[in-house]
Amino acid sequence: MAYNWIDSKDYTMDCFLLFDRWILRWILKENDWYDGDYVVDMSKALWHYPYVKTFCVNKAPETKSFIEKIERISLNNQWADKELKDAENKILQGIETFVVYAYPEIMEQVNYIRNWDEKYLHELVDVADKVVLDIGSGTGRLAFAAAKKAKRVYASEPCDTLREYMRDKIKAQAILNIKVLDGEIMCLPYEDSTFDVVLSGHVVGDFYDAEIAEMERVTKPNGWIVICNGEDEFKRTAPNAELTKRGFEWFSHESVEGGIIYNYRKHVVK
Ligand SMILES: C[S@@+](CC[C@H](N)C(=O)[O-])C[C@H]1O[C@@H](n2cnc3c(N)ncnc32)[C@H](O)[C@@H]1O
Repeated sequence: MAYNWIDSKDYTMDCFLLFDRWILRWILKENDWYDGDYVVDMSKALWHYPYVKTFCVNKAPETKSFIEKIERISLNNQWADKELKDAENKILQGIETFVVYAYPEIMEQVNYIRNWDEKYLHELVDVADKVVLDIGSGTGRLAFAAAKKAKRVYASEPCDTLREYMRDKIKAQAILNIKVLDGEIMCLPYEDSTFDVVLSGHVVGDFYDAEIAEMERVTKPNGWIVICNGEDEFKRTAPNAELTKRGFEWFSHESVEGGIIYNYRKHVVK
């Protein structure tokens, strides 16, 4: 799905130098979500960036065989400069959701974050005086909204650039009740039954069973899991069946962006 959050012509492959290991692992392999020949385009895109390839292999050694493969493709071909630049733009547009993680100020201006109203979170769940976890916090859309009422919010985020961005915002705004930590949704670094409320937005979806099981594990008995999405233009026609069949209630509204947004919550009974 193309979101067009960025104009890839404004970026270069240098943005790989800001990516965490888990992102490089995700990007530097064959995939089936790209519209085109991903391996050849990646080979062309990285042709003028030998230092980026060196960085990737050092940061994420598991990408070495893929990098070697794409190097061989370009060694055996003569690409025109325009062809190389076109491939670079296409790759960067294809991985735009990762590119914005490297530039949090740009991410904060993406429509689903910029135009979101925090009333949608507070209508879903009462976080007053609660201990809250926000998984995959990003720039902190949900964490900062929750912190206005909650006792304490743990903002869990696997991207270093985004963790630092949130820490800077917390310092600038003198917020005392948000802690920013690393964390991956299928392997959360918390004891069982730690949080009253577990939040996430635009994170759950790759491995529903494992992700929801881990969210339930860290939620206290009688707590809530909440999936609160941002505003966008996509006119969804039904709630996510993967969530409803796993016991989530859904709520919908028309977005200021023109889309139909579904939000979800699940009461955790243990
Ligand atoms: C589309 S952004 C949404 C950010 C924020 N939750 C929001 O809705 O404004 C997805 C976020 O989840 C993080 N993320 C990606 N994979 C993750 C995983 N497996 N576990 C936890 N967080 C993840 C990304 O680093 C990114 O910050």
